[in-house]
Amino acid sequence: MNKSQKSMIALLGVLLVFFGFVITRIGIAKPASTVKIAKIPAGEYDPAVWGKFYPLQYESYKKNSIMEPSPTGYGGSLKVQKSDMMPEIKTNFKGNPFSVDYTEDRGHVYALEDIKETKRIGPKSPGACITCKTPYLEKLVQETGWGYAKLPFSQVMDTIPSHGYISCANCHDPENMNLRVINPAFIEAMDRKGVDVTKASREDMRSYVCGQCHAEYFFEPNTSRVVFPWDKGSKPSDIYAYYLDKPLGFVQDWQHPDSKAAMLKAQHPDFETWSTGTHGKAGVACADCHMPYERKDGQKYSSHTMTSPLKNLDAACGTCHTQGSAWLMDQVKTTQDYTFEVLHTAGQNVTRAHEAIKKASEIPNVNQDELANARELVRKAQWYWDFVAAESSMGFHNPDQSLNSAAQASEFARQAIEAANRAAGINLL
Ligand code: HEC
Ligand code: HEC
Ligand code: HEC
Ligand code: HEC
Repeated sequence: MNKSQKSMIALLGVLLVFFGFVITRIGIAKPASTVKIAKIPAGEYDPAVWGKFYPLQYESYKKNSIMEPSPTGYGGSLKVQKSDMMPEIKTNFKGNPFSVDYTEDRGHVYALEDIKETKRIGPKSPGACITCKTPYLEKLVQETGWGYAKLPFSQVMDTIPSHGYISCANCHDPENMNLRVINPAFIEAMDRKGVDVTKASREDMRSYVCGQCHAEYFFEPNTSRVVFPWDKGSKPSDIYAYYLDKPLGFVQDWQHPDSKAAMLKAQHPDFETWSTGTHGKAGVACADCHMPYERKDGQKYSSHTMTSPLKNLDAACGTCHTQGSAWLMDQVKTTQDYTFEVLHTAGQNVTRAHEAIKKASEIPNVNQDELANARELVRKAQWYWDFVAAESSMGFHNPDQSLNSAAQASEFARQAIEAANRAAGINLL
């Protein structure tokens, strides 16, 4: 063998190892190839019908009814009041239905039951609230556009049968099982960012299907159209800046009765928080952790039990991390404990700021400019606090940003108290 033949063989060897590696890596993200596609008619929203063709996925989807606490003590799928752990929820959301009833989220199969039962929904609630609860959304949008959003909630709810909780048709095209997004608010927000969702890669779709609901939103005044506030970016500061411009005439979610500040309510910004975190930026999708592959009877399929990955750490994290489940569990628990500590303190500081502003406003000859300044600061403080408090992972989806946001909330609350003191001309708190 001459020299060039030797180097050819060496090169071939290197290529073989390289492509072998690439193929195994890609193999991790490959869809279960054994699935036979059935043609389900468009407009079929009953998961039991889909389940006849895809029994493995359906069986695991049904397990979304299992209710368990999370091993770290945060999150979990039991219907408990969040204010049990954070009593400041009651004072900070005073005047808003979230102060009365704010339960921990649980499995997708409970979506309709829980929205029917929550004390947050009343005669004045708009049909828009159904947007993230049912695949019948597709039909509502086909028939009314955004018209359903401003109808009374009860009228819209009456058209949804009991099997209409979140299911297959929310994420899959019935014809070919491709992933799809049906929430027009997500499609419109991505379009404004220059992303055509219908052309998205499979990898992106593995997060977009979740992001269509697990995201922050507001209702456009008068129409109740659902809008995602992403035009300036996804960080707490970007979205706060967006709201400062009074988008589409939207000024506030409600007014706090003590401080009289115009408040915002953050709604589960999971997609936003994930997208700016380590995993999101590394391209690790929601489905990678929340829908790991499982095997049954020699068939590989995606788990459709979308719950805490901590219940199944080896499958959820083990494809990428080799540190072992004890180490991983400890990482998550530590992140969550640290986040909770700073968050809990921040929430209490925000409560104190509302109190200080209330006291200041009762003083005759209060400086109105400083009072307005204090109200703006408490609104901002609460936004930075709520962005973490309303997010579902207690910091894990983006540990650095969550700690930063909670710490900033404390600082803005301190500034709000100082402004209230200046407005009053005495030290109130
Ligand atoms: C919240 C979104 C969501 C819902 C609801 C959902 N799926 Fe999926 N499904 C996914 C994702 C994500 C994948 C992974 C697809 C990929 O990687 O290409 C998937 C994959 C599949 C596959 C391909 C094989 C596999 O297991 O990876 C089938 C078949 C399937 N789902 C059936 C169903 C059925 C039946 C239902 C209803 C009982 C359902 N899905 C509900 C998101 C969802
Ligand atoms: C159609 C809207 C919608 C889509 C799509 C959706 N979710 Fe949800 N999700 C919800 C709602 C609403 C709840 C709360 C249900 C309740 O508490 O009754 C929820 C709850 C959850 C929970 C809490 C479950 C528990 O055990 O505590 C997890 C985890 C979750 N979703 C993950 C995901 C992931 C991952 C995806 C994408 C693969 C996804 N969701 C797609 C709306 C959605
Ligand atoms: C790197 C893995 C990973 C990725 C990626 C990920 N999550 Fe999570 N998620 C977790 C962990 C860990 C928790 C904390 C679970 C706990 O406290 O029990 C969590 C918690 C949650 C919860 C609350 C679950 C509960 O028990 O109440 C929801 C909802 C959720 N994630 C949705 C999402 C969505 C939507 C995405 C994508 C935008 C996403 N996650 C991306 C790992 C991940
Ligand atoms: C698809 C691959 C993938 C999966 C699945 C995954 N990770 Fe990661 N993880 C990464 C990558 C990539 C990084 C970035 C650092 C690196 O390159 O090692 C990372 C970083 C981390 C870090 C350090 C950075 C941080 O954000 O604190 C922790 C802790 C972590 N992962 C825990 C988990 C846990 C827990 C799970 C399961 C719930 C999980 N990961 C699932 C790929 C993954």
